[in-house]
Amino acid sequence: MKILGIETSCDETAAAIVEDGRKILSNVVVSQIDIFAEYGGVIPEVAARSHLEAILPVIDKALKDASCTWDDIDAIAVTYAPGLLGSLLIGTLTARTLAILHEKPLYAVHHLKSHVYANWILGDQNSTCPEFPILALVVSGGHTQILYMPFHNQFEIIGTTRDDAVGECFDKVAKILGLPYPGGPAIAKAAEDETHPGDPNRYILPHPKIDGLNFSFSGLKTAVLRTVQKEVGVPISYPSYKLKELLSKEQVCDFAASFQKTVVDILCEKIRKAQIEYPDVKGIVVAGGVSANKALRKALPEAYYPELKLSGDNGAMVAAACFFEIESGVKPTDPYKLNIYPRISIED
Ligand code: KG4
Ligand code: ZN
Repeated sequence: MKILGIETSCDETAAAIVEDGRKILSNVVVSQIDIFAEYGGVIPEVAARSHLEAILPVIDKALKDASCTWDDIDAIAVTYAPGLLGSLLIGTLTARTLAILHEKPLYAVHHLKSHVYANWILGDQNSTCPEFPILALVVSGGHTQILYMPFHNQFEIIGTTRDDAVGECFDKVAKILGLPYPGGPAIAKAAEDETHPGDPNRYILPHPKIDGLNFSFSGLKTAVLRTVQKEVGVPISYPSYKLKELLSKEQVCDFAASFQKTVVDILCEKIRKAQIEYPDVKGIVVAGGVSANKALRKALPEAYYPELKLSGDNGAMVAAACFFEIESGVKPTDPYKLNIYPRISIED
């Protein structure tokens, strides 16, 4: 079964064709990172406009790269939630129109589910499948959750962030340090700088005191801000956007490494705790943009990770998630009625 997956929930316009949920036939991602690096973050209206320009050529290329015509496509899958309203609209309106035009069944897929299913896609490292029950650590720009997954397409949220998402925290701390958007890769790079590898033990940052399997990252961001202010000798009223001018390269690398280590420690602590609370768990999968982080991959080596090119937003994971939804008995959605939900939970 060949599924065309379409993803436009944030700032990547992506389409891919995946066979039987695991084999990539094509995977096209057009990123808007270059546009938003200039602004230090995503501007929703600009993202929606860029999706509109890119979406049809991206889908066309996905078909061409896979040597497929519309006759070869068995179903269309599209991200309908959560994400930026305008961005989700462009993807779903395109998918709905194509489903009607080419008379294909249409499936609406939740974005976090897609990130989780990136772990089932075959690649150079991924040849085996994780065994159920599974714990899924979802770490993206908008979400930080631990999901208990007893079987395909069944998700229970057992831990979630009370405030910022972990990727968001990387992005905000990068801004304080004067590193570019997106912050995650920039912090990881500074932490491993060739001329000055960051010292992860130079700055001691606090772990949030939060019960159970939940997370909190806004306090950590503030702790970095206060520690930077103290380090460069300015009062707490000093504007955060001016701090970068006072930091040396060594200090930036050491802050990046210390922050990254703290985040990785927090994530690992909670996963270990979840393993104790759910002793029947046989596998761990890590999903979402932050799953690309090398320090995290090193600290939690027993977990499954998507191929690096599939850890960020892409269409292949949407097609993969759709395949396992169909296998689980999910029925297609009405292309005349499909709605978008910018904030809906994976459990709904
Ligand atoms: O999943 P994703 O591509 O988009 C959302 O669904 O949110 O995640 C994007 C997030 C950004 O916050 C970015 O800074 C972070 O993933 N990220 C990383 C790394 N690569 C991307 N964070 C830490 N280390 C990385 N290597
Ligand atoms: Zn994502």
